[in-house]
Amino acid sequence: MANENLGAAKQAKNDEFYTQYADIEKEMNAYLDYDQDAFKDKTVLLPCDDPEWSNFTRYFAQNFQRFGMKKLISTSYAYDSKHLTAPWQPTLFESDSPHYDKKKSPAKGKIFTLDCDQNGNDKIDINDLQWEYLDGDGDFRSREIQPLLSEADMVVTNPPFSLFREFLSWVINARKQFSVIGNMNAITYKEVFPLIRDNKTWLGPSISSGDREFEVPDSYPLEAAKSRISKDGRRYLNIKGIRWFTNIEHGRRHQPLQLMNMEDNLRYNRKLIKALGGAKEYRQYDNYDGIDVPFTDAIPAGYKGLMGVPISFLDKYNPEQFQIFGITQSWDDPTGLKQVIYPTQVQVSKNGKRSQVKKLNDGAAIQIKEPPSDSTYYEVNEKTFIKPYVRVLIRKNPGEKHEG
Ligand SMILES: C[S@@+](CC[C@H](N)C(=O)[O-])C[C@H]1O[C@@H](n2cnc3c(N)ncnc32)[C@H](O)[C@@H]1O
Repeated sequence: MANENLGAAKQAKNDEFYTQYADIEKEMNAYLDYDQDAFKDKTVLLPCDDPEWSNFTRYFAQNFQRFGMKKLISTSYAYDSKHLTAPWQPTLFESDSPHYDKKKSPAKGKIFTLDCDQNGNDKIDINDLQWEYLDGDGDFRSREIQPLLSEADMVVTNPPFSLFREFLSWVINARKQFSVIGNMNAITYKEVFPLIRDNKTWLGPSISSGDREFEVPDSYPLEAAKSRISKDGRRYLNIKGIRWFTNIEHGRRHQPLQLMNMEDNLRYNRKLIKALGGAKEYRQYDNYDGIDVPFTDAIPAGYKGLMGVPISFLDKYNPEQFQIFGITQSWDDPTGLKQVIYPTQVQVSKNGKRSQVKKLNDGAAIQIKEPPSDSTYYEVNEKTFIKPYVRVLIRKNPGEKHEG
């Protein structure tokens, strides 16, 4: 099997992916590079965590003093609510603690807090974390967690993938700073894209390609080709399409993309030339007043019209350089960018199978002269179309100075 895709992680049992310390450090360092006081005097909430061994808790507890933080709050979700197959086993940290309660242990969430030196060694670090059981299971949507969200300035976590939309709305509605891990396909969700379009959420800078390795529980079946078990028996899985979603400033989103003009792209950009298959111009959409730009590095510098670009453009998006107008998804039609709604179409698949569909209305349509032999196409109104992958619709920012 190829890399495990986060799409497969929709069921609750597949929500147990634990983030590596180095991945957290890299992203937080980018915020600190931009603003060394990014966490100063802040209360940081880490929900959906397992504070006894979470790298999020470890990272912020270890850096608490250096960052000048005010308070760290970390909460976990009860074992019983996770519906895991492996039997419950409290950690030694918990079972050796005077707070340990055999009955509460699997049924309750936990809260860990850090705000002062507890052990009198004049340092505030991971050894000063205080903990107790929550009254409930630690569900981030529960009433018990709500006041913790209100108290926090910032929320940082890798939330359960199956509840990503809900989690992001939870944080956004509370108007908090946040940095959370998700799959880049979330960009296309109707709950997420408008936040990106309106510059209320953007992608973090530390992951923009490739896979990321996450630790998984012992019970997780490791069939994926890209997985490993470490010498000490810990199990890791590579997951592709991971991104940080954030509203914390960082430097990369203010760096302009260096681009060639249209003429040079058509002459020198090999990927573009290949994709155009002999055509001498960028392809125009039939249902939007815009051109298709199949690769971010093929965006023509200085072009003033509407352009459809792949969602990976957002890894390079600089709001001073470009403006986002929409996305080629039917839920975004009310923005008025779409100019044509097609009647039922005939979809001709790669193997020649013909079926009646409405799919062309959920994307950009490019009219072609000759039907392709190696990919799906659509017939409607006596014309033939192909539908590229979902595109983000952008324009050069009129105030933008950089031509390149
Ligand atoms: C993707 S894991 C990440 C764990 C940790 N934040 C990390 O990155 O190492 C998400 C965690 O959220 C927990 N979870 C699932 N549903 C939850 C809910 N409704 N409220 C709070 N936590 C939940 C899962 O059990 C899981 O431990």
